[in-house]
Amino acid sequence: MRERTADRGGAAIETSGLVKVFGEQRAVDGVDLTVPAGTVYGVLGPNGAGKTTVVRMLATLLRPDGGEARVFGHDVAREPDRVRARVSLTGQYASVDEDLTGTENLVLLARLLGHRKPAARERAARLLDAFGLAEAADRQAKNYSGGMRRRLDIAASILNTPDLLFLDEPTTGLDPRSRNQVWDIVRVVVAQGTTVLLTTQYLEEADQLAGRIAVIDRGRVIAEGTPGELKSSVGAGAVHVRLRDPGQRAEARRVLAMVLKAPVQLAADPVALTARVMPEGAGATEPAVLAARALAELAGQGITVDDFSLGQPSLDEVFLALTGKSAGESTERHDEKREAAA
Ligand SMILES: Nc1ncnc2c1ncn2[C@@H]1O[C@H](COP(=O)(O)OP(=O)(O)OP(=O)(O)O)[C@@H](O)[C@H]1O
Ligand SMILES: [Mg+2]
Repeated sequence: MRERTADRGGAAIETSGLVKVFGEQRAVDGVDLTVPAGTVYGVLGPNGAGKTTVVRMLATLLRPDGGEARVFGHDVAREPDRVRARVSLTGQYASVDEDLTGTENLVLLARLLGHRKPAARERAARLLDAFGLAEAADRQAKNYSGGMRRRLDIAASILNTPDLLFLDEPTTGLDPRSRNQVWDIVRVVVAQGTTVLLTTQYLEEADQLAGRIAVIDRGRVIAEGTPGELKSSVGAGAVHVRLRDPGQRAEARRVLAMVLKAPVQLAADPVALTARVMPEGAGATEPAVLAARALAELAGQGITVDDFSLGQPSLDEVFLALTGKSAGESTERHDEKREAAA
């Protein structure tokens, strides 16, 4: 807390050439990151990319095998205590006690952090209220929904306002409403001055919350920038089309490629196509205008469309654009390696 003001404008995290090896596998393979203090930084990557391993090294739970990492200027390997004093981690796998109630969980953790009983109770009540869990405060955590559990877990990690909070896939598996609630919590935490390192598999989540994003694949950073920069390299959006008749797919592909002036991907599903909408590729026409034109042209060519949508590119589409292969393929390669190592 004391150093906080001085940190403003500085880096909360700086890594260079960070490496972690498990057996034969370089789970983290030379990662350079700079996370400005007071911001949300997104680490986006598919299963097995190395996100949790990076977080665990930064949180001093795992020793790096190479390179360096500093948290508020303190080396994670040489000054782990200094780092630990300033960070808090909400794991991908929640750490609350199933048999305790929401209140009991938070009071217990607050007591472990050194708060006296009345202060612990007061803080627990305030957090439960802020996270929309007041009504569930006296229910055992095992009876909470997934979204409530995740919120309780984040509440537990900010009992002491940390300077740096690691959120490892805080919304994976949550429904859209719970996801929005978690996003609101993250915004509140950051507004209070905490730096957040957020890992996610959703481009939309990183886009909603993060000032900058690093995309990681197989232990390496393959792209870094603001969400806007990332999206402009990938396309502003993606048009998803489902046809009535798989026999019309080749023709639909030709029409989409012509109107959108972008590559069209054929999904495994024989009636589905996806095309990126590239604003610069078409003289900066609005994505929605381009999409409408594409739909009209498909109809004009007698192609029956059952489903048509314009959305943000998915992580898979980001990967396709950046690496030429899907996120799934990338993970499979990991599995092959793991099998070979076994
Ligand atoms: N303790 C470990 N021992 C051996 N291999 C590990 C260990 N922890 C992680 N790995 C391997 O390192 C790679 C990166 O794992 P990591 O958990 O960091 O990925 P992730 O990006 O967090 O994935 P997910 O999105 O599935 O959580 C994976 O191939 C994983 O199997
Ligand atoms: Mg993980």
